[in-house]
Amino acid sequence: MGTNVLNLSSYKFYSNGEWKESLSGETINIMSPYLSEVIGKVQAITKEEVDEAIYSAHEAQKLWAEFSLQQRASYLYKWADELVSRQEEIAEMIMKEVGKSFKDAKSEVTRTADFIRYTIEEALHMHGESMRGESFPGGSKNKIAIVDRVPLGVVLAISPFNYPVNLAAAKIAPALMAGNAVIFKPATQGAISGTKMIEALDETGLPNGLVNLVTGKGSVIGDYLVEHKGINMISFTGGTQTGVRLAKKSAMVPLVLELGGKDPGIVCEDADLKEAAKQIISGAFSYSGQRCTAIKRVLVNENVADELVGLLKEEVERLTVGSPEDGCTIVPLIDKKSADFIQILIADALGHGAEVVIGNKRERNLIHPTLLDYVTGEMRVAWEEPFGPVLPIIRVSSDEEAIKLANESEYGLQASIFTKDVNKAFAIANKMEAGSVQINGRTERGPDHFPFIGIKGSGIGVQGIRKSIESMTREKVTVLNLTE
Ligand code: NAP
Ligand code: G3H
Repeated sequence: MGTNVLNLSSYKFYSNGEWKESLSGETINIMSPYLSEVIGKVQAITKEEVDEAIYSAHEAQKLWAEFSLQQRASYLYKWADELVSRQEEIAEMIMKEVGKSFKDAKSEVTRTADFIRYTIEEALHMHGESMRGESFPGGSKNKIAIVDRVPLGVVLAISPFNYPVNLAAAKIAPALMAGNAVIFKPATQGAISGTKMIEALDETGLPNGLVNLVTGKGSVIGDYLVEHKGINMISFTGGTQTGVRLAKKSAMVPLVLELGGKDPGIVCEDADLKEAAKQIISGAFSYSGQRCTAIKRVLVNENVADELVGLLKEEVERLTVGSPEDGCTIVPLIDKKSADFIQILIADALGHGAEVVIGNKRERNLIHPTLLDYVTGEMRVAWEEPFGPVLPIIRVSSDEEAIKLANESEYGLQASIFTKDVNKAFAIANKMEAGSVQINGRTERGPDHFPFIGIKGSGIGVQGIRKSIESMTREKVTVLNLTE
């Protein structure tokens, strides 16, 4: 343990249990997306400092693997408690750093504490199995296999900006309970919030070197981390382009990738349109649509499209637009580049004949919630992930057409189906190329113990508490050969 903050706004990185300034002498300014001012600086660490962190992680892991589950649990319970007691301070930083409303930022912190506690309980209740040799033809009853799970070693956890605490802890907690050490590389925009989360972990007296926080731009240290021979598993959440690059760079290392999405909301002719509109708008626009699981296109039966569009418009009119400090749902996007991208998508759609139902207004990084009707397959917004508050509406003539369009996407994270007919819902769900399908509800990751899966361009592997622990361990078989 030690002090972290150098001065009011400069944060150290964390390696081998110490808070350090980088020998690079370089720091990265973190600009608030809505205050338009620098709220702090983080260290741009060197490759040698990455090496040292990974070395200390390996040393620490050897001892940690010997700790009992109850011993590991005691640190993680303290971490969860510490996060709750610091929730106001951490939430304030999440709000300032990534522009999430204070209420949502606070619930991100409490959700994280709940996640950690559930992870502990899950790990405590996971068991291996034993197998009898005699079950196989010619096998002997004197041969007994004990199949258990063992840690992988050092897990590289790379997280995105939009849940800087929750999506990081969702990797760190299962890694630790499984007996691994961790190298945590936060998104640069989000690194101060991540630092505050690690300060809370440091407070528990966790053994030195077990968790290391390495800060620096992904474009500078990302490849070095991913290709490092000292990394035994990578758990990555972020954009598809980054994920694909990472998959190509890493070699012979287990990977879990949770990537982008283009989740469709399919509205059938018999849907409860009012309820569907509520779910779609909440799914599409919360935190300005900066969620991998946001509904990113509506595929609606043409016979009910006019009515649905009217209801969607009414729901959009209820959204609050402005500062996260005022608790608004629609807040400035993470940076100017992201807002520019949304505008390009809107302009392209309008150029190809789409119509604005509401929105298409911009003030700096703040894009007002925008509904686009009469979107077709020739428009970029039909296929690309905006990560912002724009929702394309595609009118379809049948459920089959909706399924076809939904599956033509390069992504496969989640999908929502709105219908009153449960048989139809299952028939459509069975045909969807997506990790999860929601029936009559918005697309979302939680509750966090459910398996969370991206297929196609949306990822590889599974998260969700038990699944995360499994992904960070491997099975090991010890065979007992008894004598008669
Ligand atoms: P991003 O730009 O891909 O960044 C994600 C992380 O990767 C950051 O920590 C980033 O560091 C790092 N990184 C960048 N280049 C790297 C490299 N060459 N090697 C290793 N790491 C590198 O994504 P984002 O903008 O933070 O997040 C938005 C995207 O994430 C969206 O596409 C969204 O759908 C997706 N997402 C998916 C899920 C899911 O569970 N499926 C959840 C949340 C978000 P720097 O910040 O330093 O560049
Ligand atoms: O941004 C991606 C997150 O995994 C989405 O989580 O559905 O709880 O907002 P969420």
